[in-house]
Amino acid sequence: MKYPKEYLDEIKTRLKVSSVVSKYVQLKRRGKEFVGLSPFKNEKTPSFTVNDEKGFFHCFSTAEHGNIFDFLMKTQNLKFGESVKTLALQAGMRPYTFSKADEEREKAWKEYMSIYSEYVDFFHSELLNNSEIKSSLDYLRNRKLSLDVIKRFKIGYVRKNFNIFENLQKKFSKKAIKECGIFYFDEKKNSFVDRFRDRIIFPINNISGFPIAIGGRIIQKNSFFAKYINSPETQFFKKGNNLYNIDRARRLSNTLDQIFLVEGYMDVIGLNNRGIENCVANLGTALTEKQILILNQFFNEIVICFDGDESGYKAAVRAAENSIKELQPEKQISFLFLPEGEDPDTFISKNGKENFIKYYETNKILIHEFLFENLKKQSNNSPTSLAVLEKKLRWLSNSIKDPYIKKYVLDFFLGKISALTPNLSKGKQFAIKHVASLSETKKIYNESISITKEQLQEYSMLYLIINNFDFFKKNITILNNIDFITNEGVQVFPKLFELVKSKDEINPNMLPLENNLLKKINKFASVKHISKNIQRDENKLKEIFLEMKKDLKNLFLDRQISELESKFSSDMDQSTLNEIIELKKLQNNN
Ligand code: CTP
Ligand code: MN
Repeated sequence: MKYPKEYLDEIKTRLKVSSVVSKYVQLKRRGKEFVGLSPFKNEKTPSFTVNDEKGFFHCFSTAEHGNIFDFLMKTQNLKFGESVKTLALQAGMRPYTFSKADEEREKAWKEYMSIYSEYVDFFHSELLNNSEIKSSLDYLRNRKLSLDVIKRFKIGYVRKNFNIFENLQKKFSKKAIKECGIFYFDEKKNSFVDRFRDRIIFPINNISGFPIAIGGRIIQKNSFFAKYINSPETQFFKKGNNLYNIDRARRLSNTLDQIFLVEGYMDVIGLNNRGIENCVANLGTALTEKQILILNQFFNEIVICFDGDESGYKAAVRAAENSIKELQPEKQISFLFLPEGEDPDTFISKNGKENFIKYYETNKILIHEFLFENLKKQSNNSPTSLAVLEKKLRWLSNSIKDPYIKKYVLDFFLGKISALTPNLSKGKQFAIKHVASLSETKKIYNESISITKEQLQEYSMLYLIINNFDFFKKNITILNNIDFITNEGVQVFPKLFELVKSKDEINPNMLPLENNLLKKINKFASVKHISKNIQRDENKLKEIFLEMKKDLKNLFLDRQISELESKFSSDMDQSTLNEIIELKKLQNNN
């Protein structure tokens, strides 16, 4: 019986691989990973690594590899179900009990998948072996596809006057066949008709490699029918959750950083045909968050390469707006625009793999640069149009979930805007002016990797205090009850508080801050971009500072909670759990 994916995912989100593994293997941090002595082998130098971000362990001396469930199965000799039970308990979750509905779903899934497998295998073999439909194989061969690629993708052809419905009925229930999406009911003929008849078919596999849907292309020219049709959504096939070829492409993620995201079946197949196998297609639908998350789980860089025409460009803009939200540190999303009229398939068949790669290397554009260029194209230099531009850019960066990326993308956008409006950028503040160039932004980004969330938050608060003494003097109570977290903050904040309370006039020389810290505050306080606006509006300033105070409190609680959680994962003590629950309540009320 299969556990629902959501249940297993919940366990995985609650338990880091390192905390599960460290009960059995002593781990040391090394960069983003942990290392230790392999539990699969006697060894003196550690070859066993754990990567929490990717959610797996890997043993270099034995090639054992897997997630938390695999780890317990392999090292503790447990069955899958037993390891799920053990870890669920460890994660503080109730054991899963299978319901009647689960059993039925499981049965339906097996039948569904078997119908598709049967269908796909049958028509693939027809394409290869049936001389009556040689023209369909010729079509593919004329498109220069190798036999190897045709087999790799199990491409098939459904003969016009052949209905597999009857054959399937011998093995599967009528209900399952009717619901799988391959057939539709023709009222006039009073029978089920194969919707892919007279089409080349492309099986769409789920991430584990089982066929769950079909795409079909017509091969007659000037046909009155749609060029492509796809299986409808079913209980087991949801378009936005899937990517064509993800099952094969994901296996390359150990050796390759990029994944090319293209529009169509034939683009994926054409790229494969010329030796680029790290590609997937979203099949002409809008790119979803879920698809981005799947790709990010395996690859560091998503290269979106749609057709070189207007609809490809529009799709790219839409994809950029949707996917920038999901951008994460260490991950990249870029765009590759092909020459007018080309798609990835035609481009690579004309120019070959090396030139495709070269083209990618010289022409790719990062997502934030593309978004800026695209919006700039639509604006002129008039004040109203610039205002719209700035608004849209702020809105875009605001939609980004990761706070670091949000900050640097905003910095990039504002830098670009201030380059368009040179007269606006002359201010006199203690703060350094923010810098426009992307390389500078990148440099700051790289430096900031070593800076914690807590530091960033505190720098912004300190920045506001330093730049708004008068305000804080008038509203001194707002500075009560703030727990700074970092050593720097803990030392500096009380002195600053004292200064605001006791002095009437303050000049920069009186600041109780080391120059070094002041520099960092000026560099990393993200609030500096908006501070000029809020300084003119005391209510706004107050509102923002109170918000920051809350955020800092949450970070403080986060830190305590995560310490307790790692304690709990080793001592499993009820009182630790209670403490965690209390802190989480506090956090919710904050
Ligand atoms: N598509 C679709 N329905 C259509 C047209 C297209 O679902 N009527 C989807 C298909 O998934 C197709 C993708 O959009 O693979 C890209 O369409 P298009 O660029 O028209 O096709 P190509 O991939 O270029 O296919 P070919 O080279 O065979 O013409
Ligand atoms: Mn094409």
